[in-house]
Amino acid sequence: MCGIIGIASNKPVSINIINSLKKLEYRGYDSAGLATLTDDSINEKKCSGRVEELEKILFKAPSNGNIGIGHVRWATHGVPNIINAHPHSSEQVSVVHNGIIENSDEIKRELVSKGLKFKSQTDTEVITLLITEALKENEPLKSVYKTLKKLKGSFALGIIFKNFSNIIIGARRGSPLAVGYSKEENYIGSDSYALKSMTNKISYLDDGELCVLTKDQINFYDENLKKVNKKIHTMSESETAIDKGEYKHFMLKEIYEQPITIKNCISEYVDSLKKNINIINFPIEPNNINKIVLVGCGTAYNSCLTAKYWFEELTTIDVEIDIASEFRYRKLKFNSKNLYIFVSQSGETADTAAALDLCKKNNVKTCSIVNVIESTIARNSDWVLPIHAGTEIGVASTKAFLGQLTVLYILCLKLAIVRKDIDERTYVKNINNLKKLPEAIKECINIESNVQLMAKEFLSAKGSMFLGRGSSFPIALEGALKLKELSYLHAEGYPAGEMKHGPLALIEEGLPVIILAPKDKYFEKTLSNMQEVIARGGKILFITDNKKDSLNENIRFGLRVPHLDNLLSPILLTLPLQLLAYHVALLKNCDVDKPRNLAKSVTVE
Ligand code: F6R
Repeated sequence: MCGIIGIASNKPVSINIINSLKKLEYRGYDSAGLATLTDDSINEKKCSGRVEELEKILFKAPSNGNIGIGHVRWATHGVPNIINAHPHSSEQVSVVHNGIIENSDEIKRELVSKGLKFKSQTDTEVITLLITEALKENEPLKSVYKTLKKLKGSFALGIIFKNFSNIIIGARRGSPLAVGYSKEENYIGSDSYALKSMTNKISYLDDGELCVLTKDQINFYDENLKKVNKKIHTMSESETAIDKGEYKHFMLKEIYEQPITIKNCISEYVDSLKKNINIINFPIEPNNINKIVLVGCGTAYNSCLTAKYWFEELTTIDVEIDIASEFRYRKLKFNSKNLYIFVSQSGETADTAAALDLCKKNNVKTCSIVNVIESTIARNSDWVLPIHAGTEIGVASTKAFLGQLTVLYILCLKLAIVRKDIDERTYVKNINNLKKLPEAIKECINIESNVQLMAKEFLSAKGSMFLGRGSSFPIALEGALKLKELSYLHAEGYPAGEMKHGPLALIEEGLPVIILAPKDKYFEKTLSNMQEVIARGGKILFITDNKKDSLNENIRFGLRVPHLDNLLSPILLTLPLQLLAYHVALLKNCDVDKPRNLAKSVTVE
């Protein structure tokens, strides 16, 4: 999703803006631009495509100026081209914007009727023109404030002014905005990662807040323009040091990190000596929980769906799951005895954040399972369970998914024992198995060379299917999601038992069909569903944890993952599917870390 950077300094800023934009590339984007203030004029440079293009433009015609803003754009209003790329500038003001202005058409009509002209198709340009108009009678902060009052929707903004050449104004409603402090420079950025190479001192704007930066001062204001103070967070070294190391892509690095991230996560929650789970301060007394409602988007939704099987298996709590963009508009019957859990890697996903807000408005208890603990969703929920996965840069989520599953599983075990839904022996056995998980994950990753061979089966395919039953069904969905987002190959995930109700029509000679068949209560049934696919010419790629050889001549390719217990099989089945998506994407020359049309932090609805 779009990314913002702004720097107020005592030296030229364009090179550092480019470097920060490169850090924001992981969010997914299609065009880039920057504006600096030189000799009292706004100097704007933009390109469609990659930040490297912008760098080449700057190399040919350098931009001076000690103050500037930059942006990577993920198109929402108007096609991705140079004109629609940000910043959007008038003679007086230049604006970068994340988010969506929902009433932009209405404002545009009003401004056009007054004789103003628009250059782009974007919603952002209305902000530029509104501020320009307001500046005729007001100083910059008042002009921005008056403009914000007219806007509906969500945004984070960075703004510079031709006639006030020492300030940048930042503002936030909905979309996040971080502020960074340094000795002779100050910054705004759409996340702390963009600022990491320049500072480890960060504050976050809260919803409705504004900030005014100069090179040596930052002032914060609330939505009524009253001055406010902000806490400064010092990021640790591990938070600031992020690179690909020996790996070709962040995604591969993050897949390989999973034995460690899962080990860290388990040790944060599990007391090995006492064989107990350290989860306390439940917002609702566990015995009084009537229902758990799990909400997320994309991969995070798939982790919710997996957890539903665990909660049903191990606890007596009723579980409901929902996709956040649906949840937020449903006519729900809120219940104060329900615990509403929001799962989000970034903690900034607009739909998930809105679903959480809806719960808060209805006075029910909320919990968030996030990777970014300073995020909006974490800050707004009653209770936070971090996944401790470390920064995830690859746009397609891998280690965060496994982290979400691990935390959900741990939460489920804790609730089950506190409510006496399981006995102590089962609890300790499950904790012991959980502790073996990092090693088993390592073993799964070791089969990478076999997965690489399997990936070749997808090269000439027109589509693919992923099938599983029980808790393997959400993993089939996740496998299909990873493959489609990375390699742009059509992929469908289905419950294997559902195939005969229509989807079998899609099976034709040679179509790759991944069968997820752990040795659980569904195993034989899954094999029967596989026969239905074989009978129609599907090319079977079989993944199991069954120690006995279940492979036969009808199976094109088989992979075996380790077996711990049936509850943990969805976690282990995920690894080959992550590697498969990675290798198919590589074979098809796709940009693994920055797949098209996918953003790391989806801050628009
Ligand atoms: C898939 C992917 C997306 C995200 C979804 C939710 O690989 O990255 O489907 O899972 O956009 O994002 P978060 O978890 O940040 O709320």
